[in-house]
Amino acid sequence: MLKLTNISQLVSYQSVSDTIQTMSNIEILIEEETIRAIGPTVGNADEIVDCSGRLVTPGFVDPHTHPVFYKGREEEYAMRLAGASYQEIAENGGGILTSIKGVRNASEDELVERVKKRMTRFLNLGTTTIEAKSGYGLDTESELKSLRVLDRVHRDHPIDIVPTFLGAHAFPPEFSDDLDGYMDLLCDEMIPAIGEQGIAQYCDVFCEQGYFSVEQSRRILETGKTYGLIPRLHADEFENSGAAELAGEMGAVTADHLMSVSDAGIRALSDMGVTATLLPGTTFFLGSNSYAPARKLADAGVCLALATDFNPGSSHLQSMPLMISLACSYLKLSVEEAFRAATWQSAITLNIHDKAGSVEVGKNADLVIWDLERLIEIPYFTSDVPIYKVIKSGRCF
Ligand code: NIG
Ligand code: FE
Repeated sequence: MLKLTNISQLVSYQSVSDTIQTMSNIEILIEEETIRAIGPTVGNADEIVDCSGRLVTPGFVDPHTHPVFYKGREEEYAMRLAGASYQEIAENGGGILTSIKGVRNASEDELVERVKKRMTRFLNLGTTTIEAKSGYGLDTESELKSLRVLDRVHRDHPIDIVPTFLGAHAFPPEFSDDLDGYMDLLCDEMIPAIGEQGIAQYCDVFCEQGYFSVEQSRRILETGKTYGLIPRLHADEFENSGAAELAGEMGAVTADHLMSVSDAGIRALSDMGVTATLLPGTTFFLGSNSYAPARKLADAGVCLALATDFNPGSSHLQSMPLMISLACSYLKLSVEEAFRAATWQSAITLNIHDKAGSVEVGKNADLVIWDLERLIEIPYFTSDVPIYKVIKSGRCF
């Protein structure tokens, strides 16, 4: 048994009230990986962590990341500083296509080592569960390799990883003149292989001008569904292409990005109960100022989740505290709204809210002990947030 004592404030979503609640002067009792009791005094334990008046929250759940790449693309960052746009770099053979070479040429072991290091950084920043996509292999062998890497890291590393197949991240160079050929490869070979091996839970598509059209995305997501892969969607990031409407039509759990979503798209998300996963780090990292219309989405009744979109091109960012800060400053969310989006709502999009995303009895002991006293200090510290300890499945880090 592990006991956390002298918690000045515990801030977490609570199922009974369906709100974010603050409890003061609290102890938490943990047995192995599970929270057993929360209250003013919770009984005896053989190990005690004295929180000395610190703030405790659930660990973050980051519901949109692309961590399986070989190396960063800092040259492109420099090119963007010199005036090139993300799309121009991609059109000239850079972008996602650059990362494909790295993943195809790397061994599974090399990728495992690199992805593990990235996971340790996520954990140190307070993230205890992430969704992670393949999508830099773009042939059957390399996509399967990427998903195996995620599976191995999930088993070997304390962080929990929920895998998503993103073979529809871009058209690989060998199919640049035969887009239908790649569509057939995705639908007739890759998705069946992934479905049969059971190494992904979700299927995602980059539905965007110059990448996958609405029609192509529909076919991929429908095929994925027949193999038990639940749809998520990169939607309306740079241009409105009706992707949010497709997310509604497909019953996707989330539509992500949405910087250019239309009013009709917002209605579709709201009507169909699709969560909007907002990625303000991408807008920030791309030096853009077109943030997603978060207030409009929230006012239309769309649930909001928050993620880093960690990837080597458009968001080389891993910090959920930074995402909360950006969500407050630029998406105009309240601290509580941003915090809920980064914990509870993100856990819902991964269907893990029975064990993650909140500090409640019976849940996994995934917690952050902050060198802070109040929630409002998290966005105030932006990315340099002092963390005292991260507890993942009852183990202290
Ligand atoms: O979510 N938008 C598509 N994919 C990533 C970018 C990937 C990359 O540039 O490597 C994203 O922003
Ligand atoms: Fe992404």
